Amino acid sequence: MAHIWPIGGGKGGSGKSFLASSLGRLLAKAGKKTLLIDLDLGAANLHTMVDVPYPDKCFSDFVSRKINLLEDTVLATPFPHLFLISGAHDSLDIANLSYEKKIKTLKSIAKLKYEHIILDLGAGTAINTLDFFLASGNGIFVTTPEPTSIENVYRLMRAIYLRRIRHYFTTDEFKALEKKVKELLGDDYFNKPENIVAVVRKEFPEKFALIRKDFNSFHFKLILNQLRKQDSVELGSQICKIIKKHLGLHVDFAGNIAYDEHVHDAICQRVSFLDRYPHTRAANDLRELNRKMSNSFGEQLILNYL
Ligand SMILES: Nc1ncnc2c1ncn2[C@@H]1O[C@H](COP(=O)(O)OP(=O)(O)OP(=O)(O)O)[C@@H](O)[C@H]1O
Ligand SMILES: [Mg+2]
Repeated sequence: MAHIWPIGGGKGGSGKSFLASSLGRLLAKAGKKTLLIDLDLGAANLHTMVDVPYPDKCFSDFVSRKINLLEDTVLATPFPHLFLISGAHDSLDIANLSYEKKIKTLKSIAKLKYEHIILDLGAGTAINTLDFFLASGNGIFVTTPEPTSIENVYRLMRAIYLRRIRHYFTTDEFKALEKKVKELLGDDYFNKPENIVAVVRKEFPEKFALIRKDFNSFHFKLILNQLRKQDSVELGSQICKIIKKHLGLHVDFAGNIAYDEHVHDAICQRVSFLDRYPHTRAANDLRELNRKMSNSFGEQLILNYL
């Protein structure tokens, strides 16, 4: 089964698509059959970063049943071993993908025959985005060093955490939990996972043990993109420490990618950055990240809510 790498970030422009296309390119270059799936529906642009200027089929053809099998929406790219399911032409927003279609998509992804599958998710915390992120234990969060971007990625992590906790409760049990949190702590506290976890630990100890075990099987990673000279190289590990403290969620800091004007140049020329500018700082950072991440997989496919 494929290694699935969902890439998410709270804020638009943090570099999710740039990272997805670059990791895809590096894995493919190492001879690994790799598929990129653009799930940033409504704002898809991954095709441009892998030199597929005019995709003639895309993900929404599968959603609308114009194409029956997800694998038949796959496009070749100019790069050996690198394939794409494009989101171009998708007027659909991911938030509007129905539950049935989401499950059908996830089941189809699980059957695809690739060594690596990279999911480029849009910004934000739509439930569908959270579920695609949680489809694998290898989720990657991307943020820039700007406080607004960090704030949004934290919000995304918190939403993912809550979504996963929710999975362990029936609707009635979750309502009971909500009531208990409000009773013990007041109305404002339900959005704070740390409070919910404290109540789960006390009131539902057997579920608490399951949730803790579940979260230990995730190998979430954080990447800090667009790091400029004046930014601290320690910022990423500091963010991970704060997340551990406040959410109890273990996220590994995978590394920094330097801010590099060549990224902009490559995108404007509609060519692959790593091929056009292989000897730049950002290209070195990407290669280093790829090396590191290829050696640390979490559980391959969770999908246990299917
Ligand atoms: N390391 C970098 N150095 C310089 N510029 C960068 C870098 N990474 C990304 N960028 C710039 O940021 C822009 C946004 O990147 P990208 O499209 O990958 O973000 P995104 O997170 O996918 O955004 P969206 O949520 O809108 O899809 C790029 O067009 C590029 O100009
Ligand atoms: Mg994008």
